[in-house]
Amino acid sequence: MKYDKIVFGGLVVTPGGTIAADVAICGEKIAAIGSGLAELVPEAEKIDASGHLVLPGVLDVHVHLELPFCGTTSSDDYRTGTRAGARGGVTTLIDFAIPYGRDGKYESLSQAADNWHRKAEGKAMIDYTFHICITKWDQHFNQVKGMVDRGFPTFKEFMIYESEGWQSDDRAMFGTLELMAEYGSMLLVHAESSRVLDELIQRFHTPDMMQRYGARLHAMTRPNFIESEAIQRAVTWSEVTGGPLYIVHMSTGEGADIIQDAQARGIPVTAETCAQYLVLDDSVFAEPDGHLFACCPQVKKPKDVARLWQGLTDGEVSVVSTDTCSFTREQKAMWAGDWTKIPMGMPGLETLLPVVYTHGVLENRITLEQLVEKLSTNPARIMGLAPRKGMIQVGSDADLVIIHPDRKFEIDPATMETNTDWNPYEGSELAGFARTTLSRGEVIVDNYRVVGKEGRGQWLARTTAGPLK
Ligand code: URP
Ligand code: ZN
Ligand code: ZN
Repeated sequence: MKYDKIVFGGLVVTPGGTIAADVAICGEKIAAIGSGLAELVPEAEKIDASGHLVLPGVLDVHVHLELPFCGTTSSDDYRTGTRAGARGGVTTLIDFAIPYGRDGKYESLSQAADNWHRKAEGKAMIDYTFHICITKWDQHFNQVKGMVDRGFPTFKEFMIYESEGWQSDDRAMFGTLELMAEYGSMLLVHAESSRVLDELIQRFHTPDMMQRYGARLHAMTRPNFIESEAIQRAVTWSEVTGGPLYIVHMSTGEGADIIQDAQARGIPVTAETCAQYLVLDDSVFAEPDGHLFACCPQVKKPKDVARLWQGLTDGEVSVVSTDTCSFTREQKAMWAGDWTKIPMGMPGLETLLPVVYTHGVLENRITLEQLVEKLSTNPARIMGLAPRKGMIQVGSDADLVIIHPDRKFEIDPATMETNTDWNPYEGSELAGFARTTLSRGEVIVDNYRVVGKEGRGQWLARTTAGPLK
């Protein structure tokens, strides 16, 4: 057997457990896993992983790059965003292709995919694909099958964002889930209850309230029931149609309870949370720069943080992603004291693995195997990318991240790849940054520095998607 590269001496996390082993690579694929491989093939290039952990590359399946949103465009594009991902051990990302519309006439689903392909081409350093957003049901419903055939088996609907022109109603969700059941595909839903949310925003949107509470109004107008009622409703549509449903960026303990109950009843629903909901809470909005932390849904209370970690160990929360949607301080300053005008979103690709490794594994909330399951294996399986991605096994892509078990770095936006001049974890110390990242057998991060070529990332075609079996 010809091996080009051998990662030797590390502790390798495989689907079967963690073992001391070498990983041999032939071309873009993992060719062998075992002991003593480095001595067997002296001519192969050697990558020393002694004293390190070797994990499958991370899949961040909820990312927005160069997204026109909230009156501006998110500041990480495919160049900076994928460099940031590489530094954080992310080797695959899934973005959202959104059809925009004017005067009731919307771009087609296919045009949206083409637009997102253009954003990625020539810039992406890691592999990528897109979820296809349905923003105008009456025009898009008969284009869904064509997109499945084109290699996009995951769709997305937003229950809010009327002013962006992205909002879906119950009819659209119900109809889309019927199609998902038929095509072996899956609907992702941003679940927040829009009419009640609008009502609460209107009640609080006075000069006096804004003067008094500032960015805290972002949390005050989004009590937990805004998310939980919407999740419950989407789950009902999944139950009656049999269509696979995936709740994105779940932020509440109540949401986790609903998902746990639904899964126990055999409803094909899966839930994702994001790194920020596992470590931040809404006390951030009382800080002088609290508006920077506005994302949608917003970070919640410490009891929600605890319940979401519990969901990761109990199993009802299957995936941790980031919902990366970066904005600079200047962009965030557009709020000028009115919380409804804050561009919503935070950077995350670069810190996903470090945050979950440091606060999850090193603080004994989850095991190393659970970390790999939630960041790599489960997202790959659910999104139709396994066994190619998400696992260290013979035949899979040689997407690997090598991390030191406890070497920490201080989070400083000035030294990061992310294109923002602030960071939600600024000043804290995190372990778990990639010493080495390999993407399809190629070293793209070496000694903590990004060395890969821009534009080398490939689009990944998929056929089916759905809950873990
Ligand atoms: O704040 C966020 N999440 N921005 C991106 C849009 C979304 O809802 O995912
Ligand atoms: Zn969302
Ligand atoms: Zn999002």
